[in-house]
Amino acid sequence: MGPHLTIGHATTNGELAHTSNVPQFGLGTFLMSEPGECKKAVYTALDMGYKHIDTAMAYANEHEVGQAIAEAIENGIITREELFVTTKLRRPHALGFEEAKQRCQESLKNLGLDYVDLYLVHAPPENLEHREPTWKGMEACLLEGWTKAIGVSNYGAHHLDKMRSYATYMPAVNQIEVHPWLQRDALRAATEAVGAKVMAYSPLARGHKVNDKKLVEIAKKVDSTPAQAAIKWCLDAGCITVPKSSNSGRIGENLEALKVDLSSHIEAFQALDEHYISGWDPTSEA
Ligand SMILES: NC(=O)c1ccc[n+]([C@@H]2O[C@H](COP(=O)([O-])OP(=O)(O)OC[C@H]3O[C@@H](n4cnc5c(N)ncnc54)[C@H](OP(=O)(O)O)[C@@H]3O)[C@@H](O)[C@H]2O)c1
Repeated sequence: MGPHLTIGHATTNGELAHTSNVPQFGLGTFLMSEPGECKKAVYTALDMGYKHIDTAMAYANEHEVGQAIAEAIENGIITREELFVTTKLRRPHALGFEEAKQRCQESLKNLGLDYVDLYLVHAPPENLEHREPTWKGMEACLLEGWTKAIGVSNYGAHHLDKMRSYATYMPAVNQIEVHPWLQRDALRAATEAVGAKVMAYSPLARGHKVNDKKLVEIAKKVDSTPAQAAIKWCLDAGCITVPKSSNSGRIGENLEALKVDLSSHIEAFQALDEHYISGWDPTSEA
């Protein structure tokens, strides 16, 4: 169910290596902190037809994501092959080659999986000297088959550009905050220029913008909820996106965003852009 995009890793000969298909829409799992909350949300989402789950070691919920996946597979709701799981190397763990490999193994153990579909460096390692060896470790995870694809998160254009000097495989994805109020045309173009797809996190600006007056007006015109309109804008912009909800009604509501038609409202969305950062922004760091 839902659209898929092809992702891969640009190599020096200009070709894409280790390609795979990613469901463009998925469930985010940040801030699901009550015991059982994440497991319930992930299971509910899979049961409704979600095919992509985004987690991270930093969210301390990989074990619950794994439990929900195991139950969903056991109950015949989904197969491992249909499912796409993204997780991330924590920034404080992005210390070099061996650490990246060890932490990938730890995430697989937490998730109870033999492989993930996408493994991301959560943010540019704070120590500049750790960036190259950490990426080499990510490449080793790819070649070992522990992940089908590798990528980065919160990388600015200058971080991506620097990777050209040390990467054998460029990132398949850059996961960054993108939504109608933070459209980031230049960073999205820079991401695509290195052969990567943009994964838009916080498509609802962490919920801060679901009552935005102008969005509410557009949503009325397209017969959708405001959240659905914001999510669909991210998809129409060519991004993968992973709205988070722990609420079964809103998990279902967000999935219905796939059906919304925004084609008559492109300019109205352009007018919403106001460089609103709802969370953190390592993309602008050195
Ligand atoms: N790489 C990174 O640094 C990074 C940073 C942030 C996020 N992410 C990833 O991206 C995912 C999404 O981002 P996010 O969690 O920051 O924010 P988000 O998806 O933009 O918004 C989530 C918030 O919106 C609410 N919400 C969800 N659906 C709604 C709806 N239909 N109507 C009204 N409110 C709704 C949620 O509350 P309820 O749960 O109560 O519905 C929650 O408070 C994360 O979960 C995570 O997987 C990655």
